[in-house]
Amino acid sequence: MSTDQGKNGDQMVSPNGVAGQPERRYAQIVGWGCHVPEKVITNKDLEQIVDTNDEWIRSRTGIEQRHVAADPKETTASLAIKAARKALETADVYPRHVDLIICATSSPEHTFPSTASIVQDALGAVNAGAFDLSAACSGFVYGLALARGLILAGDAEYVLVIGSETLSRIVDWTDRNTCILFGDGAGALLVAASNVPGGIQATVLGSDGSGADALTLPAGGSAMPASLETVSNGSHYIKMDGKAVFRFAVRVMADATRQVLEKAGLTVADVDLVIPHQANKRIIQNSILRQLKIPEEKVFINLQKYGNTSTASIPLALCEAIEAGKVKPGQNIVFVGFGAGLSWAAAAIQWSVPVEKREYGWWRSYQRRATYQAAAARSMWKRALRRVYSQVLPTPDQDEWPEASPAKEKEGSD
Ligand code: COA
Repeated sequence: MSTDQGKNGDQMVSPNGVAGQPERRYAQIVGWGCHVPEKVITNKDLEQIVDTNDEWIRSRTGIEQRHVAADPKETTASLAIKAARKALETADVYPRHVDLIICATSSPEHTFPSTASIVQDALGAVNAGAFDLSAACSGFVYGLALARGLILAGDAEYVLVIGSETLSRIVDWTDRNTCILFGDGAGALLVAASNVPGGIQATVLGSDGSGADALTLPAGGSAMPASLETVSNGSHYIKMDGKAVFRFAVRVMADATRQVLEKAGLTVADVDLVIPHQANKRIIQNSILRQLKIPEEKVFINLQKYGNTSTASIPLALCEAIEAGKVKPGQNIVFVGFGAGLSWAAAAIQWSVPVEKREYGWWRSYQRRATYQAAAARSMWKRALRRVYSQVLPTPDQDEWPEASPAKEKEGSD
C-alpha cells in the first residue's frame, strides 16, 4: 500500500488504518479533461453531402453539429494525449505516478500497438502499463470498472481512463443512416486510490453477442482481412441496423441504471445527475426520462454539439457538466452507456472531490511542459538507440545476456 501523501492535495491512501484492520480504499475521480478537433460539420453541411436535412436529423436524433478530425495529424492518439494531459493537470498529478492507462476506443490508432501505449510514451508515464479496451461505446464505463477494481484490490494508485475516437475515419460519408450520427473527440478521467469515502461505488457490465451484427465494422479483422474487394465495397465502414440498436438501447439504458443503483444501495430518487451515452436524444428520453421518471434537469445532454463520440461521449459530457456547475461534492451521479457488441455498462459515483478550477501558477505549468518535452526527447533517444541496435549491432547470443537480477525499482518513484 502506498505511503503517498496527496500529490494532488487530496487525502490519498496512507497507513492510518486502525491497528490490525485493513484500511478501506475508495476509487475517486480526481482529474478530468477533454479535447475535440476544431473543425465543425453542421447538419446543413451534411445536406451538401448526403440526401438528408437539418430538420430530420434534429427531430430524429437531437444532433445539430459534430466535430471532426479534418487535419490528418489529428488522430485517436493525439486527441487522447491532449485530454489525458488536461486530466492530469486538473488533478495536479505527474505522469510518472500513473500505474495504468486504459484507452477505450472503437477507432484505434492501429490494431496494434495499442493507442494507450502511444499515449503512455507521449505523456512520459514511465511507470504505467497501457492497453486498449474494445467494448465500443460502452468501453469508457468498462474502463472505469477496471480502474475501480484494480484500485480497490490495492494493485494501482492512479489509473488514467481515456475514451478517444476519430470515427469520421471509419464512417461512410455516403451513408446517411450513419454519417449523420457520429463525431470525433476525446475525454479522460484520472481515477485515484483514496481513503475519502465515496467515488465509484458500483458498476454493471453487460453483453449480448447475439446482436453483434447490428452494429459492426465488418472488414479489417481476422474474419474479413483487408483486400481490394473489402476496400472497394466499403466493408471498412460502420454498418448499422439503426432500429435494432435503438430498441436495445432504450431497454438496457433503463435496466442498467436500475441495476447499478441497486448495487450501490441507492434508489432512482437518490440520483442527482445522470450522464448517459450521447447517441440519440430520443433514446435518452425513452429510457432515462420516461421509464425511470428522472426529471430532465437531472440528465445532462450535450449531443447536439458533438453527435455520438462513442467512448468519448460520457467523459466529454462530464467535463461540460462540471464546467456548467452541475456537478457538486456529495452528489450521486450515474454514467450509463450502450454500444456495439451488443454491450452496455453503468457506474454509480458519489462525487467527492472539489470541482473548482485550481490555479497552480507559472512554475507548475513550466514544470509540466518540461515533463512533456523530456518525454518526447526520451522517446526519440530510445527510438534512435533501437535503430542502432537492430541495424548496426549483431543480435547477441544467448550467453551474452546478463544473469537475471532482482526486479528493478520503479523509475522516478518518490
Ligand atoms: N435523413 C433523412 N431521412 C432519413 C435519414 C437521414 N439521415 N435516414 C433515414 N431516413 C429516412 C428513412 O429512409 C425512412 O424513410 P421511409 O420512411 O421513406 O422509408 C425514414 O427516414 C425513417 O427512417 P428510420 O430508420 O425508421 O428512422 P429512425 O426514426 O429509426 O431513426 C436512427 C434512425 C438511426 C436515427 C435511429 O434508428 C437511431 O438512432 N438508432 C440508434 C443508433 C445508434 O445510437 N447507434 C450508435 C450506438 S452506440
